Amino acid sequence: MSDPVVVCEGLTHVYLRGTPFESVALRGVDLVVRRGECLGLVGPTGSGKSTLVQHFNGLLRPTEGRVWVDGVEIRPGTALVREVRRKVGLLFQYPEHQLFEATVFDDVAFGPRNLGLDPEEVQERVRESLQWVGLDPDRFGPRSPFSLSGGEMRRVAIAGVLAMRPQVLVLDEPTAGLDPEGRREILSRVRELHRKARLTVVLISHSMDDVARLCQRVVVLHRGQVFLDAPVREAFAQADRLRSIGLDVPRATDVLLRLKAAGLPVRCDRLTVEEVCEEIVRVLQGNQRWSSSEA
Ligand SMILES: Nc1ncnc2c1ncn2[C@@H]1O[C@H](COP(=O)(O)OP(=O)(O)OP(=O)(O)O)[C@@H](O)[C@H]1O
Ligand SMILES: [Mg+2]
Repeated sequence: MSDPVVVCEGLTHVYLRGTPFESVALRGVDLVVRRGECLGLVGPTGSGKSTLVQHFNGLLRPTEGRVWVDGVEIRPGTALVREVRRKVGLLFQYPEHQLFEATVFDDVAFGPRNLGLDPEEVQERVRESLQWVGLDPDRFGPRSPFSLSGGEMRRVAIAGVLAMRPQVLVLDEPTAGLDPEGRREILSRVRELHRKARLTVVLISHSMDDVARLCQRVVVLHRGQVFLDAPVREAFAQADRLRSIGLDVPRATDVLLRLKAAGLPVRCDRLTVEEVCEEIVRVLQGNQRWSSSEA
C-alpha cells in the first residue's frame, strides 16, 4: 500500500461555536488519503464533505483533532500553511464564480505569478495546465473566460489549480450543473490526471456512477462522521446500508440488484455498464448450457 499523503485524526469542526447558530459539521473523523489513489468522498447534503476537504489545505482549522499533509502537521499561522496550499490543490463547488481575470491565460497564471515565478516558468505552467484539461493554449489563452461554455470555464478553473503543480487534487463536485458532454469531458480529464500525471485525486460527488467509474476507494460521510470506508466494489455492494442514509448505488449495479431480486443468479459487485453486460451474458449463457444439457 502506498504511503499516506493526507491524514486526519479525530477531526472535529464546529461552525460559529458559542453562538445560537452553532453547527457541528465534523465529529471525530479519522481518514487517510494514500499517495496515487483516487478516492471518492460521498454523503448526503450537509454531511460535511466540503468542510472536511477544506482542512486538507489549511483553509479551515480543526476545532479538535489534527491534520497532516505529506508528513507535516498543518499548524495555523505558520509558513507551512502556504506550503500545504501548494501541495493540495482544491477546486471549489462552482469554481467558475472565481474566474475574474480578463483572459484565460491570466486566470490560470494567477497562482504561479503569486508564487513569484519568472514569466517563462509561468508561461510554461499555463500552457501545460491548459493542455492537461484539453484546451489549446493558443486558441483559448487570449479569450475572456466569460465567453466560454460552462464546461470550458470549469476546465479553466481546474487548469488554475494544476498550474500550482499540486500533489493532491481535490475536486468538490466538479461536474455539478454541467450538461452530459461537459460532464464526460471533465471526468475523462480527471481520469487522465490520475492515471497519466499520477496525481492523487479526491473526488467529491453526488453521482455514484462517476465515483464507480473513477475511484478505487469510497469514503461515505454521514452527519459529520465516517459511515463507510471501503474499496469501491465493497462499498457499492452494500446497497441497503447506503440507501438507509439516502444514498444510491451506481445505476449499473442497480440493474443487477433488480435482476437478482427477480431471480436471476447474477453477482452484484459490478459497477459499469460494460461489466453489467458481461455479467448478464455470463449468467444467461450458463442458463442456456444448463437448459440444453437438460434437453
Ligand atoms: N460557513 C458555514 N457556516 C455555518 N455552517 C456551515 C457553514 N458551511 C457549512 N455549514 C454546515 O455544516 C454542515 C456540513 O456542511 P458541508 O457544506 O460541509 O456539507 P456537504 O457534505 O459538503 O454538503 P453538500 O453535499 O450540500 O455540498 C451543514 O450542516 C452545513 O449547514
Ligand atoms: Mg459541499
